[in-house]
Order: sequence, then C-alpha cells, then structure tokens
Amino acid sequence: MSFLRFIFPLFFLISIFVASNAQLSATFYATTCPNVTEIVRGVMQQAQSTDVRAGAKIIRLHFHDCFVNGCDGSLLLDNAAGIESEKDAASNVGAGGFDIVDDIKTALENVCPGVVSCADILALASEIGVALVGGPTWQVLLGRRDSLTANRSGVDSDIPTPFESLDVMRPQFTNKGMDITDLVALSGAHTFGRARCGTFQQRLFNFSGSGSPDPTINSTYLPTLQATCPQGGNNGNTFENLDKTTPDNFDNDYYINLQNQEGLLQTDQELFSTSGSDTIAIVNRYASSQSQFFDDFASSMIKLGNIGVLTGTNGEIRTDCKRVN
Ligand code: HEM
Ligand SMILES: *[C@@H]1O[C@H](CO)[C@@H](O)[C@H](O)[C@H]1NC(C)=O
Ligand SMILES: *[C@@H]1O[C@H](CO)[C@@H](O)[C@H](O)[C@H]1NC(C)=O
Ligand SMILES: *[C@@H]1O[C@H](CO)[C@@H](O)[C@H](O)[C@H]1NC(C)=O
Ligand SMILES: *[C@@H]1O[C@H](CO)[C@@H](O)[C@H](O)[C@H]1NC(C)=O
Repeated sequence: MSFLRFIFPLFFLISIFVASNAQLSATFYATTCPNVTEIVRGVMQQAQSTDVRAGAKIIRLHFHDCFVNGCDGSLLLDNAAGIESEKDAASNVGAGGFDIVDDIKTALENVCPGVVSCADILALASEIGVALVGGPTWQVLLGRRDSLTANRSGVDSDIPTPFESLDVMRPQFTNKGMDITDLVALSGAHTFGRARCGTFQQRLFNFSGSGSPDPTINSTYLPTLQATCPQGGNNGNTFENLDKTTPDNFDNDYYINLQNQEGLLQTDQELFSTSGSDTIAIVNRYASSQSQFFDDFASSMIKLGNIGVLTGTNGEIRTDCKRVN
C-alpha cells in the first residue's frame, strides 16, 4: 500500500515530463504566431476557390508525409546534395498541392518568420481543407519540426499502392500504430479528389490476368470507367472521381459507394468486398452514420498527425519547405 502510494505519483511525474518534451499542443503558436490558423485558412480558401481539389491534394500530402519517417515535412524536400526527394517515388509522382504549401509558407514567413514548420502547415491545412468542403473539424495539434533528410525508398515500402490486398495493407497501417478502424476511417478521405486511370485501370479489362474485369465492380459503373479509361488508350492524364456520387464534398457517400460496388480503387472496394473481413462492419457503420464517420475520421487524423514527429530541438523550422535551411 505504501509502495503504491509512492509509485503512482512517480508515474504521474514521469508522464508529465515525457509529455512536455514530446507532445504536440493545440496552443503551440499562441504567443509566437497567434494568427497561424487564420493565415492558413486564408490561403486555403483562395486555393480552393480556383482548384476544387486543393484540400484533397493537401490531405494526401499530409498522409504521405506522416507515413514516411513521420510527420516531418520530409515529403516536401526537393532533390539536393544528400536529398533523394520523396516526390520522385512512384506513389508521389503526379501528386499536387506543393504550390499551395509554398504559398502558405510565404504568407506565414511574412508575419512570423522562422516560426511555423512545414510539417505543421500540412496538418493545419488538411483540417481546413476538409472543413471547407463540408467535412468535420478537429483541434489540430501543433509543434512538429521539419526533417533534415528525405527517405525515397521509405515511400515505396511504407505507402500502400492501390493494387494490394487488405492483408498487405493492414500491416502498413499497424506498423505506424494505426489500427483497422483508422484504416477504414482514413480511406474515407477518398470522398473527394481524383485518381488517374493508371491507378485503377488494371481492374477494368483483365483483372489479375483473369481475362475479365474485377468482379467486385458494379456492372453499371464498369462501362463508365471503361469509357473513361479505354484499354490500350493514351490515358496518362485522364482522371476519375474517387467518389462518383459527390466528388468534391466531404461526406460519407464513399462508404455507400462501397456497399454498391462503386469504389474506384481496388483497395477501396476491398474494404467491403473482402469476404469475412472485419472492415465490412466498419464500412456499414459509416455508410449509415455520417456523424460516426466524422467523429472517427477526426480522431484518426489526430493519430495520423502524431506519427514520428520531431519536437524540442530535433530537426528545424524550414524557411522554404522545399529545402533544408
Ligand atoms: C489506404 C490506403 C490508400 C491507398 C492505396 C491510396 C491510394 C491512392 C491513389 C492511388 C490515389 C490516386 C493518385 C493518383 O492518381 O496519382 C489517391 C488519391 C487520394 N488519396 Fe489516397 N490512398 C490511401 C489512403 C489515403 C489516406 C489515408 C488519405 C488521407 C487521409 C488519402 C487521401 C487521398 C486523396 C484526398 C486523394 C485525391 C488527391 C487528389 O485529388 O489529388 N488516401 N489515393
Ligand atoms: C490577426 O488577424 C486579424 C485579422 O485577420 C488582425 O486584425 C489582427 O491584427 C491579427 N493579429 C496579429 C497578432 O497579427
Ligand atoms: C526509410 O524508411 C524505411 C522504411 O520505414 C526505414 O526502414 C529506414 O530506416 C528509413 N531510412 C532512413 C534513413 O530514415
Ligand atoms: C490477361 O492477362 C494475362 C496475364 O498478363 C494474359 O496472359 C492474357 O492474355 C490476358 N488476357 C486478355 C484477354 O487480354
Ligand atoms: C449497382 O449500383 C446501383 C446504383 O448505385 C445500385 O442500385 C445497385 O444495387 C448496385 N449493385 C450492386 C450489386 O451493388
């Protein structure tokens, strides 16, 4: 008993110590850049008004940043001596939104130079981009610092491709501390944005060498996709909506589409069509309740944003997101 009385306060003190050293906080810039959120929102509103995909592009960058060496802005670095840019890895070729990040950085440097990290810009702009098109809001935790390195090969190993089975994708999430609910909830980000033909075309004509289309594609959806991305066509720059119903809004239609066999990517449809999978019940839950989807999406985004962050005196605050200082 007296031993416990001693040990509990000790744990308490240790946990406070760890927290103050490593954790992010919603008020991190309260004194150093109090208007950070408003400044990011202003640039995002401007970007969204000229490009409906602005928010979609940014949240994808945040995901691809966080899954490779943590949320440290490593994805944003261009090629340089000692830097093999992650932008050149297959999963990032064609990704957009880097110009928006630069515009946000410029706006912030004008008001509070050298203060707000590029990794935090991605986290903040993701929340704002989702909220701007009807999605949930959440309190964005801040205080990440930017990496001094990039990890191109880490993109190939750690970012799921759209061609893998759920069994392959699952450990790519659990390795980052993300569980199956996180996987299903975050896949709901495919409620907006676009995908190039090359990311789903292999489902349309000769799926896995079977000579036939993927049997889990709805028979009325299939001909539309085949017309957009014809076999042997020059489809390099042709895009399809990830959410066929409400392509530019953030809502739970993505999950209803999966129930109707109208998921665009193989990895989307697998969440509902993999027989016996524990993901099916989660898809059904989000399809029938947008508020449950929004709640879980917000929690999973906070979890995503906590992966492998640099804090304290680790890393740096880049003045240009494309290069180390
Ligand atoms: C679960 C595994 C995932 C796979 C296999 C996957 C795969 C893909 C692919 C192949 C594209 C199209 C890229 C292109 O055409 O170049 C895409 C787009 C997109 N992804 Fe994912 N993704 C996954 C998870 C996520 C997560 C967790 C998020 C965010 C939280 C996300 C957000 C997006 C968005 C918003 C777009 C559209 C971007 C745009 O319009 O430019 N994805 N994804
Ligand atoms: C914050 O922004 C508002 C309007 O956007 C402005 O009125 C205010 O002066 C700004 N505060 C600081 C500390 O920059
Ligand atoms: C790059 O990412 C891989 C996969 O996560 C990891 O094993 C490796 O240690 C990383 N390399 C560096 C230099 O961070
Ligand atoms: C489908 O792909 C397989 C393996 O790549 C190939 O052998 C077969 O000829 C293809 N079938 C058709 C109808 O294109
Ligand atoms: C195919 O899509 C239509 C329209 O969304 C839907 O009514 C139908 O139930 C779907 N079929 C299957 C097998 O899911």
